[in-house]
Amino acid sequence: MDEALQSELLATARAARAAAYAPYSNYLVGAALLAEDGRIFGGCNVENAAYPQGVCAEAGAISAMVLAGQRRARAVLVAGGGAHLCTPCGGCRQKLREFCGDPKTFVVMAANENGVQRRWTLEDLLPQSFGPDHLA
Ligand code: THU
Repeated sequence: MDEALQSELLATARAARAAAYAPYSNYLVGAALLAEDGRIFGGCNVENAAYPQGVCAEAGAISAMVLAGQRRARAVLVAGGGAHLCTPCGGCRQKLREFCGDPKTFVVMAANENGVQRRWTLEDLLPQSFGPDHLA
């Protein structure tokens, strides 16, 4: 991925993070999903007084992409705060799996306040995954 595109993803994820609603955990997360057609969709975590009803940043970005008519993504960048790295939770790894095409080529990036620090494929984070092909 070229540097300009990565910067754009980082800016989108950080802007989304700034909008996060996380009054219970105070753990703000932003995500930027790169769709196959090149569009970028942001999402932030949105918590709830009934704790299990909160949704992750990645899930918000996936919803935005699907609402826009896109069903395939190439990469996601997740932005946490401080020096800490936020990696996608297990549930989000599976949600991303649905729209990733090939887990071996879908890229997951984790950023902190200093920028992107780690990069994996979805296959690295969710090996031997169950996906749409299993039901085809
Ligand atoms: N969170 C995300 O938004 N994405 C992840 O992949 C990890 C966790 C959110 C959920 C909750 O609002 C907060 O971080 C603390 O778990």
